[in-house]
Amino acid sequence: MKTIFSGIQPSGTITLGNYIGAMKQFVELQNEYNCYFCIVDQHAITVPQDRLELRKNIRSLAALYIAVGIDPEKATLFIQSEVPAHAQAGWLMQCIAYIGELERMTQFKDKSAGKEAVSASLLTYPPLMAADILLYNTDLVPVGEDQKQHMELTRDLAERFNKKYGDILTIPDIRLPKVGARIMSLQEPTKKMSKSDPNKKASITPLDDLKQIEKKIKSAVTDSEGIVKYDKENKPGISNLLSIYSILGDKTIPELEEMYNGKGYGDFKGDLAEVVSGVFKPIQEKYYNLMESSELDDILDRGAEKANSVASKTLKKMENAMGLGRKRK
Ligand code: AQP
Repeated sequence: MKTIFSGIQPSGTITLGNYIGAMKQFVELQNEYNCYFCIVDQHAITVPQDRLELRKNIRSLAALYIAVGIDPEKATLFIQSEVPAHAQAGWLMQCIAYIGELERMTQFKDKSAGKEAVSASLLTYPPLMAADILLYNTDLVPVGEDQKQHMELTRDLAERFNKKYGDILTIPDIRLPKVGARIMSLQEPTKKMSKSDPNKKASITPLDDLKQIEKKIKSAVTDSEGIVKYDKENKPGISNLLSIYSILGDKTIPELEEMYNGKGYGDFKGDLAEVVSGVFKPIQEKYYNLMESSELDDILDRGAEKANSVASKTLKKMENAMGLGRKRK
């Protein structure tokens, strides 16, 4: 059985973008692959975090993974900082990465732009991400389009490592969703929807109450033409809403264009709000039950144990190959 690894940062409540680009795919893939799903809290601290808020977000993200349909009997769910091999292998990856290639990462450029004090970890985040993936002999990484460049770097670093130290690391492939690999902000539809966006009207989260979801969709920026038509270049707002409707409502974009032919944005947005609420309502019910139970800690303990046993083996192989410490079996 092939192996999948993917992670989400507990840097806020996940958005509809994270749900469509990542989590929804995870649920579909867990039946066919050996899956590792990680709460990458060490990535979250590359930008300032409030410690209590971070703790809350970690637990909340774990509950959301389960609430959206990840089955802990099928997939391994764990917290990155509870598996020390990640930080250790991250260092090894940093030692083979070049500063120039890290400086070229668009996410580094975006997140550091205009800031006076930029943490070194914002630059070295991609080698840690590479380590996260490579420790599990991962074949496939399901992510949204924004992670494509980091994935290419992961492959480069793995190939460089193998060339230098022997055939140790599996070279992973990226898996992008067919539609919805990049869900855009509801307020600035040329910018991606992000959980750390301070404008809360720009994103929907699975935990928004249903009235809030309706309000956010109704106030989503579109255009003055009033025609429901997919045209990413000239009509980015309505095109983004069409993508969301298509994925969550299980209809093709041409079908939707036909359904709303002659109708205005008001009808379209009202129906889309119902579709989104219909998907998130059962998730919310499951989420609040989980947050009150001890089941979540048991799942995360078991996940950390399984992840530790696999990751520490790969780490040992890497350290041996690089000549670190004493030779161990
Ligand atoms: N807008 C998006 N559309 C589709 N997929 C998306 N992803 C993120 N935003 C979108 C995918 O979600 C997964 C988890 O992402 P992450 O938490 O590791 O970091 P990120 O990509 O930086 O996500 P955010 O929401 O933008 O977080 P912040 O604001 O903290 O930087 C990844 O698979 C990602 O592709």
